[in-house]
This record gives sequence, C-alpha cells and structure tokens, in this order.
Amino acid sequence: MARSGKVTVVGAGFYGSTTALRLAEYNIFDTVVLTDIVEGKPEGLALDMNQSRSIEGFETKIIGATTTPDGAGYEATANSDVVVITAGLPRKPGMSRMDLIGVNAGIVRGVAENIAKHSPQAVIIVVSNPLDEMTALTQIASAFPHNQVMGQAGMLDTARFTNFVAEKLGVLTASVKTLTLGSHGDTMVPVPSRCTVDGKPLTDLLSQGEIDELVDRTRNGGAEVVALLKTGSAYYAPSAAAARMAKAVIEDSGEIMPVCAWVDGQYGISGVYLGVEAEIGKTGVRKVVESALTPSEIEALKVAAEAVRAKQADVKAL
Ligand code: NAI
Ligand code: 2OP
Repeated sequence: MARSGKVTVVGAGFYGSTTALRLAEYNIFDTVVLTDIVEGKPEGLALDMNQSRSIEGFETKIIGATTTPDGAGYEATANSDVVVITAGLPRKPGMSRMDLIGVNAGIVRGVAENIAKHSPQAVIIVVSNPLDEMTALTQIASAFPHNQVMGQAGMLDTARFTNFVAEKLGVLTASVKTLTLGSHGDTMVPVPSRCTVDGKPLTDLLSQGEIDELVDRTRNGGAEVVALLKTGSAYYAPSAAAARMAKAVIEDSGEIMPVCAWVDGQYGISGVYLGVEAEIGKTGVRKVVESALTPSEIEALKVAAEAVRAKQADVKAL
C-alpha cells in the first residue's frame, strides 16, 4: 500500500494521542508527528505506538517531538500537509467550554504562529476549546486563507446524535443519518429535519417530545461525559472525528462533512466561523454546502452565528 503525506498532531494529551494513533492505524500517511510541551511525553508515546505496528499491521512512522511555546522543536513538524491542534486545557465538571477561552487562546495563538512558520501549506484542523473561537483565532494568528483552517465539532456532535437515535430505536448506527450545525456549545443546532433511519424521516418514528430529548442530550453530549469522568473530557469519539477530517484532506476525497468553516453568504450569514456542511479536500474546505433546512432551523443557525460572532471578535485581542 502506498503511503504519503505528513500529519502533525499538536498536543499529546488524551485527544492528541488517540488522534495520532488513529491516523497511524489508517496506514495511509508516511509520517505522523506528535508534539507536546511536556518533555519526553510525545517521544514516549510515539515509541509505544511504533511498537504496536507489527501487531496491528501498519507501517506509518510516528515521531514524537517536545516543543516549547517559543517555537523550539517545531522543525520536526516542517512541511506537514495537515496539522491537528489539540493543545490546551480540557473542561472540568461544571465548566463550560467558554471558561477555557483565556488560557487556551494564549496556547493556540502560539501554536498557530509556529505552525504557519514551518508548514505554510498545511490544512489546519482545530479541536481546542472553545472550538468556534479557537478556530477563528487560529486563522488570524496563522494568517492562512480561511479555507485552510477549519474546526472539528460537527462530526462529533452528529456522531453523538446518531448514537442516541440508534440506541433509542434499537437499530444499527449505520442505518441512521443525523446532522448538527451551529456552534460547539449552547447554540449547537441539531437538525431533526435531516435525520432519517433507513431512509425514513425521524419524525415518522419518534414523537416530538422524544426527538427533543435526544436533541437536548446531543447538545449536552460533551458535558455528560465530563461529569462521568470527573477529570478531563471525551476523546474516543472526538479523535475519530478529527482523524476522519484529516483523512479526507490527505485523500482529497471531496466528502461532505459537518465542520466549523468560514461562512461567507450561505444561509444569509457572512464573516464568521460556524458549524456547517462543507466539501473537504486537499485545500481544506473546498466549499460550504448549503442544504435544505426548515425556517426554524435557519433561524437557529443565525442565532448561533451571532452568538459566536461576538466571541470571535473578542479573540483577536487575546
Ligand atoms: P489534555 O489535557 O489531555 O491534553 C492537552 C495537552 O496539550 C497536554 O498534554 C498539554 O501538555 C498540551 N499542551 C499545552 N500547551 C501546549 C503547547 N503550547 N504546545 C503543545 N502542547 C501543549 O486534554 P485533551 O483531552 O487532549 O483535550 C485537548 C483539547 O481538546 C481541550 O481544549 C478540550 O476541551 C478539547 N476538546 C475538543 C473537542 C471538540 O469536539 N472540538 C472534544 C473534546 C475535547
Ligand atoms: C466535547 O464535546 C468537551 O468539547 C468537548 O466532548
């Protein structure tokens, strides 16, 4: 099997390390680089992952590199095709994603500047929270074109919605299609009108009250995991989501995925990073795909856009 391309995962915590391993196990990349500011952590994890290659049957080489906030060590990431930014603190129980904004903005700004210096052509996938704001900040700090910077949230939120629908109806997840748009926060917009089970509308199978419960559980999906774990936040489903996006980029697949992308006129919304469906390829976001939504869903998307617009304006100063 031909392998090509280099992907860097910044931050070797729970999200970053699981993402790096998923990417390596795809066996499509030549190299996966994993970095962290904790000395030895990325090197140790990379050594451990490389030792699993003969058992799991993949040849992608994983390289661990300790970096410093002022840019030492970033040479190892040079000329990456894709970079996934997971650096930053996760939530504790009772915290909102927005409570992380001050500390994570400082971390993400520095990472974005260093990545831009060493990998000017990379497509950046941001996952650090608060997601919509950190995606906007990464674009500003990297000065990359908007299409080259996107955030991961919709893939995860949609997967959570799908899981809840499948469990509720006792069907395979493969038979369920769902969609969430909007922000990765309070103004997340699960889209019941786009949900089907074996092609049948969800509204034919569940009452409005039952759908509302699943929508609420999806909106609080991250907090539900945080409350159970007590320290840290989810990483298995989140890493699956980010890894699939990186795969779509390196394969130039043209898949349509719900991602946090720069919206410029779609749904009557402009000039903001927001969760929408987009066609993903080697340039990042090839285009935002506008699909049929109900008037109330479009209204909810506009409310989400205004909520994140205000916060995204604030991050410039952070
Ligand atoms: P974690 O605490 O396990 O790992 C974070 C890692 O970032 C640590 O190892 C830390 O040393 C490292 N780090 C800090 N500053 C750095 C820098 N300047 N350069 C490189 N590495 C640095 O946290 P976890 O669980 O991995 O989560 C990471 C982020 O992802 C959090 O902000 C969390 O809220 C977010 N997240 C986002 C999701 C989404 O859907 N967008 C889902 C789940 C988590
Ligand atoms: C999640 O949704 C905390 O954003 C993180 O799991």
